[in-house]
Amino acid sequence: MDKYVIRGGRALEGKIAVHGAKNSILPILAASLLNCSGEPIRLKKVPHLHDVWAMLEILSKLGARVAHDGPDILLDTANVKCDQVPEALMREMRSSIFLMGPLLGRLGRVRVCYPGGCAIGERPINLHLEGLQALGAAVEERGSYIEARGRLRGAAITLAYPSVGATENLMLAAVTARGETVIRNAAREPEIIDLQNFLIKMGARVTGAGSPVITIKGGRDLHGGQYRTFPDRIVAGTYLLAAAITRGQVTVEEVVPEHLGALIRVLQKTGADLAAGDTVITVAGGRIKAAPRVDVHPYPGFPTDLQPPLVAYLTLADGTSTVIDHVFKNRFHHVQELRKMGARISLQGHQAVITGVSELKGAAVEAADLRAGAALVLAGLAARGETAVAGIKHIERGYEELPRALGLLGAKIERVAAVPGEGVRL
Ligand code: UD1
Repeated sequence: MDKYVIRGGRALEGKIAVHGAKNSILPILAASLLNCSGEPIRLKKVPHLHDVWAMLEILSKLGARVAHDGPDILLDTANVKCDQVPEALMREMRSSIFLMGPLLGRLGRVRVCYPGGCAIGERPINLHLEGLQALGAAVEERGSYIEARGRLRGAAITLAYPSVGATENLMLAAVTARGETVIRNAAREPEIIDLQNFLIKMGARVTGAGSPVITIKGGRDLHGGQYRTFPDRIVAGTYLLAAAITRGQVTVEEVVPEHLGALIRVLQKTGADLAAGDTVITVAGGRIKAAPRVDVHPYPGFPTDLQPPLVAYLTLADGTSTVIDHVFKNRFHHVQELRKMGARISLQGHQAVITGVSELKGAAVEAADLRAGAALVLAGLAARGETAVAGIKHIERGYEELPRALGLLGAKIERVAAVPGEGVRL
């Protein structure tokens, strides 16, 4: 198994720019299916991530033409006729569920396999399916497959929970529906605004993203155009926490500080110095104070995707911290691995109680999911000795060349490939 090998204990120093947001580019790639005009879409500076390649492969299988032009991707989806997402690819990437909305809207039918649970716990899709039904689709679940059919018409939908994926899926379906759709209790994450901005660029009429009420006036033909997503706020947050846990000083560039308000507040309360400009944030770490209570909630609350890196950071705090994840209640795979490095964490329901220790020690650990992997890398950067993080395929779903990026800041981190037949070379 390929690994990251980290020699810890160095304070990170320097400047680092953030790549485009994974959680924006994925729904935007799905949204490209709504363009039947024959005019290409140019997506600028697309991050090199496993999930992006997987989504592009799905789009190709559906009949899209995909071309690379330096860091940009050109997409022509005029000839998409296939209404079935290949099962293996669908299972590989759960977020392919939001292909349902645009395919159903465009072709009048869609068949996908059930994406199932995943490492961070149950991830139901009831809100996606109920929303599509409200838009007039007939939805049938047959074993592990879901089929949806019908011509869509605008509707009023109130989500029982502000699910990011369901909000995006329904926005995409509603663009094709005749009449007006209003989504209430919509997710307010910046990635929803990114999707709205992209749809408007392609000719759609969408307003309200970033607020709990999104209005879509559907039925317009969309066209091509150019777009560049927001920077990845979770990657930016990971870099800030990497600087703070190693007590270094790092300037993170090409960020939107406003998207990181909840993390900035926690870093300040726990003793880090922060300064934010229009598109940069500088953090200087010192002794880490405990955070008596951090509640993880949908945006603008503290993001669940930064909960594992935050837990890693608080393992070195003076005193006891509590982190409660109200979004994904079982997202604590990093805890048992952090314990192998000397962390003292107990799990009580969906909260982690972290008793700070004076140091972490290097160990062989394994990432079970993307952000758990980021947490282990952060712990490895701060730990005494060598940490080998296995399961890095998860990390590479969402972080572009993480060893190179952290290496620019002075970290000693290397990607070590498994040699076939020889086991792992360390
Ligand atoms: C997206 C992000 C993911 C992030 C999550 C929460 C992408 C590609 N992924 O995932 O990185 O961790 O938002 O910020 O953007 N739920 C239901 N029924 C549904 C849908 C969701 O009960 O039909 C529940 C989930 O179980 C979970 C909560 O809603 O407890 C949040 O899920 P959701 O916002 O949908 O997350 P994703 O869109 O899957």
